[in-house]
Amino acid sequence: MVWRLRQSPEVEKIWCAPGNGGIAEYAECVPVSADDVEGLVSLAERLKPDLTVVGPEAPLVAGLRNKFELRGMRLVGPSRRDARLEGSKIYAKEFMGRYGIPTPTLYGDFDSPIEAIRALDAVDWPVVIKADGLCAGKGVLVAESRPEAEAFIRRIMQKHELGPGGSRLLLEHALKGDELSFIVLTDGRSFIPMAPTRDHKRAFDGDRGPNTGGMGAYTMDGMITPRFESVIVKDIVSPTIAGLSEEGIPYTGFLYFGLMLTASGPTVLEYNCRLGDPETQPIMMRMDFDLAVAFDAVASRKLDRIKPAWKAGASVSIVMVSGGYPGTFETGKVITGLAEAAALPNVAIFHAGTKRDGDSIVTSGGRVLGVTAVADSLEQAIHKAYEAVGKIHFDGAQYRTDIGAKGNLQTCAKAEVPHG
Ligand code: GLY
Repeated sequence: MVWRLRQSPEVEKIWCAPGNGGIAEYAECVPVSADDVEGLVSLAERLKPDLTVVGPEAPLVAGLRNKFELRGMRLVGPSRRDARLEGSKIYAKEFMGRYGIPTPTLYGDFDSPIEAIRALDAVDWPVVIKADGLCAGKGVLVAESRPEAEAFIRRIMQKHELGPGGSRLLLEHALKGDELSFIVLTDGRSFIPMAPTRDHKRAFDGDRGPNTGGMGAYTMDGMITPRFESVIVKDIVSPTIAGLSEEGIPYTGFLYFGLMLTASGPTVLEYNCRLGDPETQPIMMRMDFDLAVAFDAVASRKLDRIKPAWKAGASVSIVMVSGGYPGTFETGKVITGLAEAAALPNVAIFHAGTKRDGDSIVTSGGRVLGVTAVADSLEQAIHKAYEAVGKIHFDGAQYRTDIGAKGNLQTCAKAEVPHG
């Protein structure tokens, strides 16, 4: 977002809290943690920005928007209550129930591991187990067998391996189909869809290995048909936004619909109250409208004046991760080749787990870089992104080699039968 905002003629100055080694090229990074709500409020009172935009979910779930609003400061992001769509999977499920939004069948929600394990007697396999609260992307398991399900329930509810986010959980029916990330920017009344994207959550090629925060994403013209997009909007996006405005203060910011496209239509697996990572990187590279103007329109509740546009073609982002991720990994590895990779036309290198160390950029997290390219076709974008990856080196670097290989969504044609 900072990379795209920096290109706007409307933007004079950007501060980012806390930022990272890559963002520092485009913004002044300020050492306040993204979940330090009081620190962020004090920072905004001191800097007096025209507008604050929130990236991650934690400060929203903790009520940052509400605190800004009390002080008359403009912020793009949902209220504490609306951020519960991401902050509590059970709340989200109840919300979808109230507004008839298609979502997999719920077997039940539990705050006792014994009752959750007993409920496994009555489920179809595989079954989806979801921790209720925020668990940094580790709170969902599609369990193929009872021993696997029991072990996960014990890990999150008895050993508290995921912290307080795992103190309640829900069991739901597992669906077959293709996953799609459908993200909209909204001012609570109107909305503009981002280019639809696909994430790759498993660590290894061919969707094998453990779940990660995301190993790459892509977007392309024709990924879904206009008719199918209109079904998503009619059955899912519009009723969600209408429900939110009925229940609370206007939702502003990005709203992420994690969809499963099934043979009988699109179904919501999860909401996020933010953009997706790594979906954001390919979205930003194809974006052909001024994001700063759009954010200003959101804060003024005039988003209906903004006409989104997307560069024709496709974009792909490959996530380079530290060796061992999503398990244990080492940090502090020097990264080389960043300038050579970024010099390739239509390539941008987005930083995640990096920091500056003297004259070097070193690794500081599991997901290190989002190496992203935009081109006239998906094949060219894939080729370009991997060419850039080939120029970047750090000890133990890993990445998937099949990001984008799925192409457009064949199931869409079958899924064109709208609900009802
Ligand atoms: N890519 C999934 C997420 O951001 O939650």
